[in-house]
Amino acid sequence: MTPMKPPSSSPREGGPTFPLRHRLLRLAWAMTWTLLGRWTPVPLHGWRRFLLRGFGARLHPTAKIYPSVRVWYPANLTMAEHACLGPEVNCYCMDRIDLRAHALVSQGSYLCAGTHDVDDPDFPLVTRPILIERNAWVAAQAFVGPGVRIGEGAVLGARGVTVKSLDPFMIYAGNPAKPLRRRRLDGGAA
Ligand SMILES: CC(C)(COP(=O)(O)OP(=O)(O)OC[C@H]1O[C@@H](n2cnc3c(N)ncnc32)[C@H](O)[C@@H]1OP(=O)(O)O)[C@@H](O)C(=O)NCCC(=O)NCCS
Repeated sequence: MTPMKPPSSSPREGGPTFPLRHRLLRLAWAMTWTLLGRWTPVPLHGWRRFLLRGFGARLHPTAKIYPSVRVWYPANLTMAEHACLGPEVNCYCMDRIDLRAHALVSQGSYLCAGTHDVDDPDFPLVTRPILIERNAWVAAQAFVGPGVRIGEGAVLGARGVTVKSLDPFMIYAGNPAKPLRRRRLDGGAA
């Protein structure tokens, strides 16, 4: 009979990556959002900001977070005036995610601030912050990887995938996202 291995503390073998306090806080947050946030009517943005702030998010009073948004760890989320996380956005803020003024993330998009070092046999977690500059738009079902900075007024088209930073006022689309053209409003509304 093969002897049972003792329980492992390695994340690769099911052990925790984060300390107990962090995991308990996230559990409390998940329960709070499920019970008090997820089912709320769309216009109750103020109530949802209140819940997120209670767990450390820094949100301007005009920031909008739709009820179906998933925020992994609110203390890593910052949103400036009129920034918006649309329906079904997955805000996987293992590191800081920062939306500047009027930054818009549309439905079903995935902001992913964590990955793993695939060249290290221990497969350690690697986190890097995401910054979405003012007036940028992440369109429906796009994917933004760790460490990406979406430049001011830039657009990542629907279902676009980027793991690299995007230049200001450029429109990108595809997987991997490539520049389509320059946005025509530079210097205007932006
Ligand atoms: C990226 C986007 C803004 C570009 O709009 P546009 O500048 O008017 O671009 P066009 O429609 O003229 O398309 C230009 C080219 O890019 C391609 N393209 C446009 N959007 C694309 C996308 N999301 N993915 C892949 N290719 C795309 C077009 O097929 C076209 O290719 P072609 O030159 O080979 O014919 C737009 O296509 C888009 O993705 N909008 C987001 C829609 C959305 O998320 N809606 C939810 C609202 S909340």
